[in-house]
Amino acid sequence: MKIIRTIEALRTEILAAKGAGKNVSLVPTMGYLHAGHAALITAAASETDFVCVSIFVNRLQFNSAKDFETYPVSESEDIEVCKKAGASLVFMPSHDEMYSLAPALQLSMPSLSANLCGPVRPNHFEGVLLIVARLFNLFQPDVAFFGKKDYQQYRIIERLVRDLNFPVRIVGCETVREPDGLAMSSRNANLRPEHREQAALIYRSFKILEKAVNNGMADPIELTEIAQDVIVSGPDNRIDYVQIVHPETLELLQAIDGPFVVAAAVFCGEVRLIDNMTISPVVHDSF
Ligand code: PAJ
Repeated sequence: MKIIRTIEALRTEILAAKGAGKNVSLVPTMGYLHAGHAALITAAASETDFVCVSIFVNRLQFNSAKDFETYPVSESEDIEVCKKAGASLVFMPSHDEMYSLAPALQLSMPSLSANLCGPVRPNHFEGVLLIVARLFNLFQPDVAFFGKKDYQQYRIIERLVRDLNFPVRIVGCETVREPDGLAMSSRNANLRPEHREQAALIYRSFKILEKAVNNGMADPIELTEIAQDVIVSGPDNRIDYVQIVHPETLELLQAIDGPFVVAAAVFCGEVRLIDNMTISPVVHDSF
């Protein structure tokens, strides 16, 4: 497995792999890798013969300097995770390598950023769009893997590819969870021990909401209230949002009449966690 730190060296490696007729895949990450990231790399390795992982904490997508500075880093452990999961190349550029010139270009996707994290994290998806577009140009991957844990990001990247005709196929991978249901996240490392158990209430709230839907409840407002009550039964949980949206347009739903996504952002103590679940209501016979 090669470790590459400069854009120039990366271009040479990609040209060589493509020249040798290899299928190139890309798994973009910000490091502090866990089993969720490893699942994306494993999926990439099962489909392609040149698996690239990028590890870059992209300052442009952080809303606060504090959040950026406290983002956990673990270079040598990350390299081991990549190796074990079957990566061929890891790209770990410095901030200066990527942003020696502050980008003048701006990308935004107002429609898909209108709900969920869009309004509460101004400029976040603009930062994500720009770095992912650059990574696609640098790696020219045939296929790129993203987690549905970041559902809005996954949908936004899918649309980026369609709108700009990037010749890359986007694969969305299911969320990998801890045994109690907490979605794996690099940010979980920053949770205080007394908040860890309360963090699991986010997924639990989705499961309870799913039951309510399958019992016939169809009002998104009532359903979100059910989920909110479960989450704030953890005294240190503070809700940023709980929303029920259409799985593709990400518009807020007025009524449940098919598959939908419930998504939440919750401060568990100081740490902001996001999670979501796609729910397909059981269709009851009306005889
Ligand atoms: P990061 O948060 O490191 O996540 C990298 C990829 O891993 C994303 O596609 C994310 O959805 C996926 N992922 C994270 N936790 C997961 C889990 N528990 N199960 C499955 N997949 C999971 O997302 C980013 O980095 C950045 O925004 C990035 C796309 C790299 C752009 O900077």
